[in-house]
Amino acid sequence: MSEIQQFHTELNEAVDFIKSKVDFTPSIGIILGTGLGSLVDGIEMVGSVDYDDIPHFPLSTVESHHGRLLFGNLRGKKVVCMQGRFHFYEGYSFKQIVFPVRVMKALGMETIIVSNAAGGMNPNFVAGDVMLINDHINFFPGNPLIGENDNKLGPRFPDMYEVYNRNYLQLAKDIALTQNLRLQEGVYLAVTGPCLETAAEYRMFRRMGADAVGMSTIPEVIAAHHQGNKVLAFSIITDMGLPDNMHPCSIDDVIRIAGEADPKLRDLIAGCVEKM
Ligand code: HPA
Repeated sequence: MSEIQQFHTELNEAVDFIKSKVDFTPSIGIILGTGLGSLVDGIEMVGSVDYDDIPHFPLSTVESHHGRLLFGNLRGKKVVCMQGRFHFYEGYSFKQIVFPVRVMKALGMETIIVSNAAGGMNPNFVAGDVMLINDHINFFPGNPLIGENDNKLGPRFPDMYEVYNRNYLQLAKDIALTQNLRLQEGVYLAVTGPCLETAAEYRMFRRMGADAVGMSTIPEVIAAHHQGNKVLAFSIITDMGLPDNMHPCSIDDVIRIAGEADPKLRDLIAGCVEKM
């Protein structure tokens, strides 16, 4: 079997399994990042499927365990939520990381909303801010589209024009205004992790044009764009990476700040979903 035939067999088995558990066609997919739990409370749940039960889903590590796909209605829209994602630093390949994105598309997804926790490098930001991602720099040592291209999914050489949908960027800004939310905007750069950055690395990434740095999101966004989805993405700025003002940063701090910012991003995403 060719790489692509194999992929389609696995995709179909995963999709058939999910459909046998939940009869639902979501139009919006949401990937919940670190600390962004409470959005789930606003969803009128229709069903859920554990990642561990889905054929060909990546096997969970400690980080991703208890991951599941949640299906339901949010502000009148049919959504599928990834509660837990797969990171490159956990040892997954880029193809494995984006497999759920392929599955959500096959289930009906047209738009994807992605969130993450990130370090801020733009000195106008403060920890706890929400940043609208308007572009990215892929600093991962790879790309989920490497290998034989499946022309049924998308083009061999996708352009990266307007990856972050212009109408949705404006929508997010409009909704933030109505919610009195200070919404930052900028470029997200992704590294492998799991180390945070040295002062020299923060300085370099800032000079390269990035406003925030994290360890996720870009593979999923590339796959979503490749398969024709509209993309909206946000970072919660959980710590500031200012090279001339470094201080210790623990993962507990990151998770705590993400949790504190959670309600802001929850309301912003719900507001955007309502108007999509
Ligand atoms: N660097 C990389 N990833 C992160 C950071 C950071 O400072 N904060 C949260 N995720």
